[in-house]
Amino acid sequence: MKSGTPPWDDRLGVRIFLGAVLVLGVGAVTAWAVALLTGPIIFHEHMLLVETPHPDPEVVRHAEEAFDASWQLTLLLALIAACVASVLVSVFLARRIARPLNKVRSAAMRVAAGDYSARVPEGAMGAEFTEMISAFNRMAAELDETEHTRKRLLSDLAHEVRTPLATVDGYLEAMLDGVAAADSETLSMLRVQTDRLKRLAEDISLVSSAEEHRLSIETQAVSVADLITAAQGQARSSYAARHVALEVDEASEGAVVLGDRDRLSQVLTNLLDNALRHTQQGDQVILRACSDSTAVFLSVEDSGRGVASEHLPHLFERFYRVDTARDRAHGGSGIGLAIVRSIVEAHGGNVRAESCGLGHGASFTVELPRHG
Ligand SMILES: Nc1ncnc2c1ncn2[C@@H]1O[C@H](COP(=O)(O)OP(=O)(O)O)[C@@H](O)[C@H]1O
Ligand SMILES: [Mg+2]
Repeated sequence: MKSGTPPWDDRLGVRIFLGAVLVLGVGAVTAWAVALLTGPIIFHEHMLLVETPHPDPEVVRHAEEAFDASWQLTLLLALIAACVASVLVSVFLARRIARPLNKVRSAAMRVAAGDYSARVPEGAMGAEFTEMISAFNRMAAELDETEHTRKRLLSDLAHEVRTPLATVDGYLEAMLDGVAAADSETLSMLRVQTDRLKRLAEDISLVSSAEEHRLSIETQAVSVADLITAAQGQARSSYAARHVALEVDEASEGAVVLGDRDRLSQVLTNLLDNALRHTQQGDQVILRACSDSTAVFLSVEDSGRGVASEHLPHLFERFYRVDTARDRAHGGSGIGLAIVRSIVEAHGGNVRAESCGLGHGASFTVELPRHG
């Protein structure tokens, strides 16, 4: 980017002044030429029309000289006054235009240097400048937000990878030192950690492709009742093992959605998995389906731990966990709900989370366009 003081003939004020001088020059030359060519002739003809048949030539000469002198003086004074006015107007306009431009330029240079907090103060500078400044500020705010997310993602990702890697590293070192044996117990422990890393990589790639609208969706007509039955069947054993009741309220009335059966199943599996993870023995989870003429609603309601209201808007963000330590200990990486949202949005639907607060359970509702 060009910076520093621009050469004199490249300055805004000089350009405005040169423009004004050009207009002034054309006006002055035209006025001079017209006055010179027509003024004396008209004046002379009028002098000859005076009453006396033969006007004194000396009087006529004096009168004509006086006329010439007066129009030339008038034009000269007008030209000087216009020159002074155009200098003043050029300086005023240049300052008025340059001030906001300089502010935007220095803020843009700060943004280019990585300082996304740079903003241009809005002032009374005219509608066009106000629009330009607010567009610039919006752009800087977006960049700020993106940068913030990028930094958080990188640090979260590093954290997620570090824990299983440290475990694997510890086991391998113990085996090399002969402290631990390479028996099936150790190997299966290692397998758990590598599985966790594999799942993390798959989850991240799934969310990334969904966010870039590259998620491959094999569209077909999917019966809502089938989806519910499949999800229930898959969750049954893990729910039974934890003594959490899984109830199904399937009232979709034969509704069909257009979408990818496996991906939609994954949505319900993730929601049921979360519900199980945040409930205790004796709690209840209801898997519900209903529909109206245009939409299908799938919901998972639990009577478990619930979510405090300040966390609700963030649950669907990547790596967001309400209780980082506790949720991580339960094996969660905080991507499950981000995947849910990505898949649902790729199907033209939306998902929302509700909870009446800690200890009052939570409910997640997916809304999809009804196909039939
Ligand atoms: N049914 C639920 N009840 C209470 N909290 C929940 C529930 N489902 C999700 N959460 C909260 O939302 C966070 C994000 O969920 P998710 O993206 O699935 O990540 P995780 O990998 O931790 O399950 C969880 O860590 C948890 O704190
Ligand atoms: Mg989850």
